Amino acid sequence: MSTQNDFAPIVGQTQLSSVDGQAGRLAIRGYPIEELAGRVTYEEAAYLLWYGELPDTMALTDFAGQLASRRSLHPASLELLKACAAERVAPIDAIGMAVGTLGLGVAQDDAPMTLVARFPTLVAACWRLLNGHAPLEPRLDLGHAANYLFLLDGRLPSAGRVKAVETYLVTLIDHGISASTFAARVIVSTQSDVVAALAGAVGALKGPLHGGAPGPTLQMLLEIGSLDRVESYLRDRLARGKRLMGFGHRDYKVRDPRCDVLAAAAQAVYQAEQNVATYALARRVEEVAVRLLAAYKPGRRLYANVEFYASLLMHGAGLPAELFTPTFAVARAAGWVAHCLEQQRANRMLQPQTVYTGPQGRRWIPLEQRPAVRRTQLP
Ligand code: ACO
Repeated sequence: MSTQNDFAPIVGQTQLSSVDGQAGRLAIRGYPIEELAGRVTYEEAAYLLWYGELPDTMALTDFAGQLASRRSLHPASLELLKACAAERVAPIDAIGMAVGTLGLGVAQDDAPMTLVARFPTLVAACWRLLNGHAPLEPRLDLGHAANYLFLLDGRLPSAGRVKAVETYLVTLIDHGISASTFAARVIVSTQSDVVAALAGAVGALKGPLHGGAPGPTLQMLLEIGSLDRVESYLRDRLARGKRLMGFGHRDYKVRDPRCDVLAAAAQAVYQAEQNVATYALARRVEEVAVRLLAAYKPGRRLYANVEFYASLLMHGAGLPAELFTPTFAVARAAGWVAHCLEQQRANRMLQPQTVYTGPQGRRWIPLEQRPAVRRTQLP
């Protein structure tokens, strides 16, 4: 049994974000996440990550304008997304394939900013094509979050929806050396490029133990459906040895600090929609899950993680579950890029070692003398 993060060796240094898993704290460039989420725009948070300071008005106007002017996709990205839509490829897989095209027609120096600017356009175009609609042209007059929502359905989003999605994007922008960020840093550390690094990061993100969790988390909440089913549903799941989605974290052995800001944003969204029952259900699920996890998995210290309230918030903001993980990628894009740039600035190839535990000193035997082996499946 492991209650400490004892399988996570330190692989380097970062000045971007700090994670204290025992105290439950996340800070971006020294700012606790609660200071930023709900207060700054995604552009401000990205600027902070990349340059180390929050921008003043002039710097922000310039930075936001530079991002906005790079939003349009290369035609080849759209062609690839069309082919994926024709094959009914799931959005996160189509996006994984198309990330490699995001740097097309762009000078290497310009790739970091262009990748972040184009990410929402890519996700929205993928979604529209999959649903039989033509992709829309980005709006230069809208911020990153509002433009993303506009690109999805062609409607000018309400201030409440923009605030909800912006809070989500800022909260998820960076988180130390998560699995996907590590993948990105390993790739650039070989002197490969940022486009390849982001393609690798998306590949790592999509698994259900990392960024693929919010869809199944929402599904669990919807399956529970009502307050009277919470305890029996969760007990049954744990008794069958299944994991409770949205709970447990490799770093946090207390409640994930991002839960508070996302829960507050979710509460505002559900109140505005006059659907407080769903929010109340989620709060009850958290309460009961934590109690049952302590009973079924004593000593493991399992609490709600970011995905629990992220899925609730995105659902409330009207995002379809298939876009939860792609939207996570939209948020994390600026963080991945910041880590790539930091790695490149003081690079040493990241190449960890493994401890070999297999057999030793074996000798070759001619084919006709070997003992019978009947293995047909990969281990
Ligand atoms: N429900 C039930 N049991 C759990 C859960 C859970 N959500 N999470 C961990 N456990 C149990 C494991 O079964 C294991 O029990 P055991 O010791 O009896 O075998 C023990 O706790 C330790 O589990 P590990 O998988 O070793 O813990 P790890 O730190 O590697 O796991 C992880 C972290 C993968 C997030 C895990 O908690 C999990 O699978 N959670 C559900 C999926 C999820 O919500 N993922 C999103 C994470 S947030 C993010 O990545 C952005």
